[in-house]
Amino acid sequence: MKQHQIIIALDGHSSCGKSTFAKRIAAEVGYAYIDTGAMYRAVTLACMEAGLFDQTDAPPEGEVERILKGITLDLKHNPELERTEIYLNGRMVEDRIRNMDVSEHVSYISTLAKVRRKMVEYQRELGASKGVVMDGRDIGTAVFPEAELKIFLTASPGVRAMRRYKELLEKGMPAELDQVRQNLEKRDRIDSTRKESPLKQAPDALILDNSHMTVDQQMDWFREVFNRTISPMDGAH
Ligand code: DC
Repeated sequence: MKQHQIIIALDGHSSCGKSTFAKRIAAEVGYAYIDTGAMYRAVTLACMEAGLFDQTDAPPEGEVERILKGITLDLKHNPELERTEIYLNGRMVEDRIRNMDVSEHVSYISTLAKVRRKMVEYQRELGASKGVVMDGRDIGTAVFPEAELKIFLTASPGVRAMRRYKELLEKGMPAELDQVRQNLEKRDRIDSTRKESPLKQAPDALILDNSHMTVDQQMDWFREVFNRTISPMDGAH
């Protein structure tokens, strides 16, 4: 019997290992992994390349909307690298969007109602047939409030800054720990206080603080909650 497929919503702070955890979860249960942060980052890159940030850190929403209307976003699986990659107007930008310059501007772009509306619409289409692990900030609260399993991942700011710093260095990207931490704190602040779908825990989300956990320990925790979620559903069929 085919197992009942569900939506797994994974929300949480910046750089707390959401995407690593989400990818492992997706591989474990055989679901598709959808990184919604990549979508906001790709829109941000499009705005940067159109020069919207040349004179200001907060370009008017109308100008962002104009860019938004002219772009296409696609997610494609790359079997060689075993990863999903995001394409902006047909160009693979998966690596480019991780740079600090995009991180500097993405929180502003993701405060804009018109941007959020379009991204949420796209995300709902991608999750419509279930069997997805979707990571972001508002998946369990705004995109799929009916998701069967909601996880809210967090870790202390110091641990998160160090993880992000090491990740950037490993990728050969220049970084300063102080600057990385400041960027994280700024993004936390903007993400949690914005008017449109701020980052907050869904009341029915399970909280996991992974400050002192390995990925394997997180997976042990996940297996238990996944089985607990899925067993009554399979029993019902
Ligand atoms: O997960 P990330 O750091 O790649 O996300 C980049 C930014 O996008 C983050 O600062 C907040 C925003 N974001 C959002 O507002 N809603 C989401 N569902 C995902 C990301």
